[in-house]
Amino acid sequence: MRRRMIFKLGLTVIVVIAVCMFYLIHQQNDELIPNQSPENDSSVGNQSGKTAEISAEEKLRKAELEKKAKRWRESIHLSIVVCGDRGNESIILIKSAILFTKRYIIIHIFAEDDLHSSLQQQLASWPSIAKSKFEYHLYGITFPDSNNEWKKLFKPCASQRLFIPSLLTNVDSVLYVDTDILFLSPLEEIWFHFTRFNSTQLVALAPESEDRQTGWYNRFARHPYYGELGVNSGVMLMNLTRLRNSTWLPSIVNYYKEYKLKITWGDQDLINIYFHFHPDELYVYPCEWNYRPDHCMYMSVCTGAERSGAYVLHGNRRAMQNDKQPAFKAAYLAFKEYDFHQKMKTSLLPPLQEKLEATSKTPCGRVRHIFSTRVAQFVNHAEK
Ligand SMILES: *[C@@H]1O[C@H](CO)[C@@H](O)[C@H](O)[C@H]1NC(C)=O
Ligand SMILES: *[C@@H]1O[C@H](CO)[C@@H](O)[C@H](O)[C@H]1NC(C)=O
Ligand SMILES: *[C@@H]1O[C@H](CO)[C@@H](O)[C@H](O)[C@H]1NC(C)=O
Ligand SMILES: *[C@@H]1O[C@H](CO)[C@@H](O)[C@H](O)[C@H]1NC(C)=O
Repeated sequence: MRRRMIFKLGLTVIVVIAVCMFYLIHQQNDELIPNQSPENDSSVGNQSGKTAEISAEEKLRKAELEKKAKRWRESIHLSIVVCGDRGNESIILIKSAILFTKRYIIIHIFAEDDLHSSLQQQLASWPSIAKSKFEYHLYGITFPDSNNEWKKLFKPCASQRLFIPSLLTNVDSVLYVDTDILFLSPLEEIWFHFTRFNSTQLVALAPESEDRQTGWYNRFARHPYYGELGVNSGVMLMNLTRLRNSTWLPSIVNYYKEYKLKITWGDQDLINIYFHFHPDELYVYPCEWNYRPDHCMYMSVCTGAERSGAYVLHGNRRAMQNDKQPAFKAAYLAFKEYDFHQKMKTSLLPPLQEKLEATSKTPCGRVRHIFSTRVAQFVNHAEK
């Protein structure tokens, strides 16, 4: 009798201890699970605990994805096409974009394959204060769905920008710029023009010329063009959502077939032909958003830039590299030589002004304040 009772008691104690230990171990495991990856936790925890854990992880992953999607939506998207010997100036262009801009920038770079590694290397060599302000996505030069007809029809590099709406299908809007551009102001300022688009406008461009005497399209073009003097395509805000929902691509292809032999400036002419026939779809911003040697080489014709300075500098016809209008090259060199670690107030603005001062006897150098006003304004307000 007694022995059996002791045996039963002992058994109960053992069971109770076992239950307690099982419970304790479980508690600990539950606390550990959040630090484990889903692949590793299959052997621990009971069924309901596991489901709770997986959904917590999923929530985390979802939150991460949502954060990324939000950043994708709220960032400024910049796009460039880099071919031939344009790699170096693209890097300086990107540098000028991130210097003034507060919003995160997502850069879409279409480049010839043999330029990829050099672009990657140069951007990777930047300090983290610069790298934290943007991300970039590098693509080859390509046609949508590798369309063979277009491949035969268009020169790949020159026509790339026309196809951006069909290539960046998950992007709402981009600022497309040629590589011979320098930003003298935050990208938020040019991006702001999107908010002024009316319901039919798809694209923003600046006029090709300011006066009939020197205008190219009004004197030489053998094809239709936009407005009185045409538009320049080097600085182009594109609402891709609206472009995809318009007849942009099929129309461009048709115009190309029709006017191929009359076209001088390649895709810029096609863009002019398109907006000749669709003027309600174009928003025209003034010349200070696309300031070129034409605006100062004969006489100063961009009154907006005289008043407030140029916001975007466009050294077309190689003005950033050659010595035809040294004020453009001066600006380029000042940005090139600037070191990210230094203050712009002491190490960008003064060298820029000095270099410009040396061009004071050249036509564009006579209006050199146009090349530095926005920068001065920025550093005096932002970098106290
Ligand atoms: C680009 O810059 C590097 C060094 O800064 C130079 O060695 C190279 O020749 C340049 N390339 C072109 C095409 O200008
Ligand atoms: C582009 O157009 C779409 C459709 O009208 C609009 O929802 C979107 O906000 C526009 N994007 C910008 C940057 O204005
Ligand atoms: C697409 O275009 C049609 C008319 O052409 C217009 O009614 C519609 O609002 C547009 N959708 C977007 C997203 O812009
Ligand atoms: C939008 O502006 C353009 C250019 O001023 C104009 O031609 C077009 O009619 C406008 N669209 C609407 C819906 O007002």
